[in-house]
Amino acid sequence: HELAMSVEEIEKSGYPHFMLKEIFEQPNSIADCLRGRLDVKNHSIQLGGLVDVMDKLIGAKRLIIAACGTSWHAGLVGEYLFEHLSKIPVEVEYASEFRYREPLINEDDVMLVISQSGETADTLAAVREAKQRGATVLGICNVVGSTIARETDAGVYTHAGPEIGVASTKAFTAQVSVLAMMAIMIGQKKNTIDPEYAERLIEELDRIPGKVKQIVEQSDSIKRMAELFTYAPNFLYLGRTYNFPVALEGALKLKEISYIHAEGYPAAEMKHGPIALIDAMMPVVVIAATDHTNDKMISNIEEVKARKGRIISITGKENEEVIDLSEFSCPIPETEDCLSPLLTVIPLQLLSYYIAVNRGCNVDQPRNLAKSVTVE
Ligand code: G6P
Repeated sequence: HELAMSVEEIEKSGYPHFMLKEIFEQPNSIADCLRGRLDVKNHSIQLGGLVDVMDKLIGAKRLIIAACGTSWHAGLVGEYLFEHLSKIPVEVEYASEFRYREPLINEDDVMLVISQSGETADTLAAVREAKQRGATVLGICNVVGSTIARETDAGVYTHAGPEIGVASTKAFTAQVSVLAMMAIMIGQKKNTIDPEYAERLIEELDRIPGKVKQIVEQSDSIKRMAELFTYAPNFLYLGRTYNFPVALEGALKLKEISYIHAEGYPAAEMKHGPIALIDAMMPVVVIAATDHTNDKMISNIEEVKARKGRIISITGKENEEVIDLSEFSCPIPETEDCLSPLLTVIPLQLLSYYIAVNRGCNVDQPRNLAKSVTVE
């Protein structure tokens, strides 16, 4: 007799879409990424794939990160991590731009490419360009044995498991986890990070999967919030420091699957243009999880409110000032500033997912998009 479930239904393990399954998998996928690498007891980090290039990394005068799409956003978080913890100057490039602009790169440079699929044509071309110019090229890939994984000199797999939904979710949090481990590890080896701070970060990284779990367990409240904003024509996302890339990523998720126009901005840039767009029809998602910029964020929120914009905030449970100023707030557990993107991105993934479902969009296979872009 016939099978009651299709192969696809079995693969979705009861979830209506791969994207939702992959969002909910993040407590496990991040734990898988950290497993065997993060040694909490000894406060150390081992990344086997980088052992051979460790001297090169420690001595690097400059690190160039190249990627596309969501992986590029992870790269921006990487820039802040490497400069803060390992004191390596970083440039983040769109892989497509890097290859076409006669980049200044040579044997003294280290390039790090980030790619879920390991097959993105522009990223692969950047790898080849950098190698041809003599640079050491490292990769952070999810798909084992992919072209980029094979062509790079060394690298780290994200071990997030297969990602089927076109909009990237668990690959992003795994990429940021790898970048955090790399930056802490290099910082420890170079002595550019206070030893106690490094220990705190390692312990906190270990707690991230549990905190992500707490956030996905609140998905019902994000679902209710999504109902109110389903038909908004535009969205603005604002973040500062470590959460500026998260603002870009939140906006990208919404564009990709719900086809709502959305823009992400560093919060302070709002006054240089986007503020002109704010009116009672404009939801503004504020990611306010970085402590030392909280006061600035509050004044940005007040500027939005003065123009009748609607504030949705992603912020720490204790941040009462921001919560009181918001129409909706999604509380996230407290964490270290530099690890906060691993938490703040989760509600944004869920928000875009529920809005897209409400709008009847094909969440797993959005129009015009491909999971892996192997053409230019
Ligand atoms: C496509 C996908 C995005 C992804 C980007 C980079 O545009 O739709 O989700 O972020 O490619 O892909 P990669 O596999 O290189 O990370």
